[in-house]
Amino acid sequence: MPSRIVLTGFMGAGKSTLGPRLAQRLGWAFIDLDDEIVRAEQQSIAQIFDSIGEARFRELEQNALAATLRQENIVLALGGGAIETAANRQRIQEDDATLLLYLAAPLEVLIERCEQQQLHQLHRKAVRRPILEKRAELTERFQRRRPLYELADWTVDTTGKTLDELVAAIVARWNNACERVTNR
Ligand code: S3P
Repeated sequence: MPSRIVLTGFMGAGKSTLGPRLAQRLGWAFIDLDDEIVRAEQQSIAQIFDSIGEARFRELEQNALAATLRQENIVLALGGGAIETAANRQRIQEDDATLLLYLAAPLEVLIERCEQQQLHQLHRKAVRRPILEKRAELTERFQRRRPLYELADWTVDTTGKTLDELVAAIVARWNNACERVTNR
């Protein structure tokens, strides 16, 4: 079985909220790629976008991913745009020890979730998401990324499901896959 589960999906997909819960259930560590970058740069994601721009952020993201994928028994939440970097996709897809899991939802649902998070300050990322501010480009980004997210090993539709339901469904699928491997 893989020793890493990498969560992908657009902003608001639930990567950073579901990730720690899933990791806890598996007895693994949770890592949020954005948090790794923030810690290394000593700046928020929004500050990084403002100071060095998105292109340089993507380079930092690529390096952080390469470093993080050396660890085992981790659930890793990617940022919503990490999948657009070809080198990141290649690294993940060529690695048999990494399972890529796509948390899917329609764009309207994702935007609504992000707005709710922002309104109630429900999530530390809700403080400021630079990509969410680029409203005109949002649909375009989503459509461009969707086929890349869909390259994932597993896709889970998160629409209308609670966090508990989602975690339970993923753990059940994981246990099932483990059993099939053991019985081979
Ligand atoms: C981004 C999503 C963010 C963060 C950065 C860029 C994107 O992560 O990496 O602001 O391009 O969609 P979340 O998907 O966790 O919000």
